[in-house]
Amino acid sequence: MVSTYPTGVQNSGSQYLPQRRDTKAAVSPNQELLPLTARVNHGLLEIGGCDVTTLVQQFGTPLYILDEETLRSACQQYRDTFQKYYQGESQVLYASKAWNCLAVCAIVASEGLGVDVVSGGELYTALNAGVSPKKLYLHGNNKSIEELVLAIDSGCTIVVDNWHELRTLVGLADNSPGIRIMLRLTPGIECHTHEYIRTGHLDSKFGFDPNNLDEVFAFVSKQPSLNCVGLHAHIGSQIFERQPHRDLAAVMVQWLRDAAKYDLTVTELNVGGGLGIKYTESDDPPSIEEWSKAICEIVQEACAAENLPLPKLLCEPGRSLIATACVTAYTIGSAKTIPEIRTYLAIDGGMSDNPRPITYQSVYRAVVANKMSEPLTETVTLAGKHCESGDILIKNAQLPKTQPGDILVVMGTGAYNYSMASNYNRLPRPAAVLVANGEANLILQRETYQDLIRQDCLPERLKK
Ligand code: LLP
Repeated sequence: MVSTYPTGVQNSGSQYLPQRRDTKAAVSPNQELLPLTARVNHGLLEIGGCDVTTLVQQFGTPLYILDEETLRSACQQYRDTFQKYYQGESQVLYASKAWNCLAVCAIVASEGLGVDVVSGGELYTALNAGVSPKKLYLHGNNKSIEELVLAIDSGCTIVVDNWHELRTLVGLADNSPGIRIMLRLTPGIECHTHEYIRTGHLDSKFGFDPNNLDEVFAFVSKQPSLNCVGLHAHIGSQIFERQPHRDLAAVMVQWLRDAAKYDLTVTELNVGGGLGIKYTESDDPPSIEEWSKAICEIVQEACAAENLPLPKLLCEPGRSLIATACVTAYTIGSAKTIPEIRTYLAIDGGMSDNPRPITYQSVYRAVVANKMSEPLTETVTLAGKHCESGDILIKNAQLPKTQPGDILVVMGTGAYNYSMASNYNRLPRPAAVLVANGEANLILQRETYQDLIRQDCLPERLKK
């Protein structure tokens, strides 16, 4: 049953629980608001078999709570549907910019996924998590020499973004022949998403201009030190339409055909990520299976039409793999009611642990973990605790009547929350716990005040 926006007392936080479908089809995590293991037990929210209010007592707030089953299920659905619908070889990568840390990299790798990284720091983390360099891909539009050397030394694939990088690599390659590279191209495909998270249109800072393709292929084909194995493109993020991805895959097969004119054995196509997730009841993204199937089919059709052998097909979703697996728990504190205008309810985090509302005007939904069965009778604006008026997490949230000390849970925070978190106002970054089968393991320690001054240096002459 499709739930509607809560309007009356008959609704409670329980309406956000995952759909239990009668069919055998797996529930696609990106089409849910709460993690797949979410339950209500005597009015209390449970995730991964753990009571959220107990987790909060143990680990404090704000707290990122990551449900292992939801993350693994999303990994399996991507992996299995590519295997099911694609007749050639395939490899799903996790775009770790969504949430890069040791535990998350280790989980996705254990499901057979590779990892895409966009900096030396993300690469270092993935390597330390034990991800095989054979399944690691380094992106970035301005990689430093240090990052390129780390990538070359570790043996991961470098997704080359521009001429400067290509020439730098040729220079670095003197002692390391056969660097495995892919070429990133700008596909020039428009899609409807926030301007900042659109990357595929021609006016983009990423990738080679496809109008220079011949020049790029000619150059690369003359470099014995570079082993160009494939082509890459990405059109944007939080996309619900299927057509832009179909168009992308078709365009990429044309590029593959063009590469064949040169002395290049380009055998891999990476179509990027971008599948959207459900942040609110009105969001209706395709399922992981629908998205994957559409891509596999179009690549196969386009290759058949061009009489090309099937390339190894890669994709690199981030958000749709991890966003729904995580919620953020906060403690509700002060309230301010402005008669006939609104009530602000403040929580103990905000734009430092979730910068998406202030950055992209992103909309979230929340429930109260200790009042899951109570009617939603209040309309409140949830404010963060930062010294910034725009630090508003959710406008006009529908909640039960709350008191200070109640536990607010914001849903769908697994992607681009921790990874974009900051120490603004010198707030320590929250802890994160991984929950599964009633057990909770710390995966990120809460930062302390000592952590906040760890990198500070006080010149001798300023010391008292
Ligand atoms: N591959 C490349 C090259 C990318 O640039 C991205 C995301 C992805 C894969 C993964 O896309 P996804 O499947 O997660 O949509 N901070 C923004 C999102 C920025 C996305 C940047 N690129 C947000 O919070 O919405």
